[in-house]
Amino acid sequence: MAQHLNGVAPGSTATLTKPALELKDIDASYGTTAVLRKVSLKVEPAAVTALIGPNGAGKTTSLRVASGLMKPTGGTVLLDGEDITSTGPARRAKRGMCHVPEGRGIYRNLTVKENLLMQANELSAQESIELATSVFPRLGERLSQKAGTLSGGEQQMLALSAAYVASPRLVLVDEPSLGLAPIIVDVVFEFLETLRDKGVALLLVDQYALRTLSIADQAYVLRRGEVVYGGDAKTLLEGNMFEQYIGEAS
Ligand SMILES: Nc1ncnc2c1ncn2[C@@H]1O[C@H](COP(=O)(O)OP(=O)(O)OP(=O)(O)O)[C@@H](O)[C@H]1O
Ligand SMILES: [Mg+2]
Repeated sequence: MAQHLNGVAPGSTATLTKPALELKDIDASYGTTAVLRKVSLKVEPAAVTALIGPNGAGKTTSLRVASGLMKPTGGTVLLDGEDITSTGPARRAKRGMCHVPEGRGIYRNLTVKENLLMQANELSAQESIELATSVFPRLGERLSQKAGTLSGGEQQMLALSAAYVASPRLVLVDEPSLGLAPIIVDVVFEFLETLRDKGVALLLVDQYALRTLSIADQAYVLRRGEVVYGGDAKTLLEGNMFEQYIGEAS
């Protein structure tokens, strides 16, 4: 496809597509405590990239650096090959990035409808409601309810609808299945696969490492702020790889 060639001559062995997101040698700290050390990862378009690792490894921090909520002390953040390290979260959102944070990231005192409007970008209220309820019909029955009074699963659906309504190209999702009943976890994972099938680049952090790897193309394992594995996601499911990198540590 011509628009994906990026000026690379046919037959060239060079990479044909730029990663949607790239973290290059990222260092990050809270105060004087270093939590990320030279973290490098790539998130390819229309693919799921899993970021896994034990509690405190630095997964949330990596997503915060990627979305601009946190400034790294070293390294570079690239969006479609362009250095965006010094830009803030609002600008990154305008350029097609959507961060669904740990703990939902919804306005609890606003209604479902008002939350959807906040997510809508340039869409009308009606359009944003139609899009959200096409993927999460249950939200349609709750439009005038305050978000804070929704069930945990409904709150997560509302949070994830931002990743659909705003038509982002890159979605960062932090622990979407946390605290949810298994049947809602199924809904969440199906939704993430729908996003991927629509061409969205996904960087996914989730407590269910095996399930996350099963829908992922690429995977990175973080341990104590360092990448200890980066490569094919399915490879991590082979032999004793999972045990070696995740099992014993989680
Ligand atoms: N606001 C903060 N102030 C100080 N230290 C923090 C802060 N947030 C996180 N940390 C520390 O930074 C390290 C990485 O935290 P982070 O939240 O990125 O890990 P995580 O991999 O997302 O963990 P979890 O699986 O528990 O969500 C941890 O040691 C944590 O205690
Ligand atoms: Mg976390």
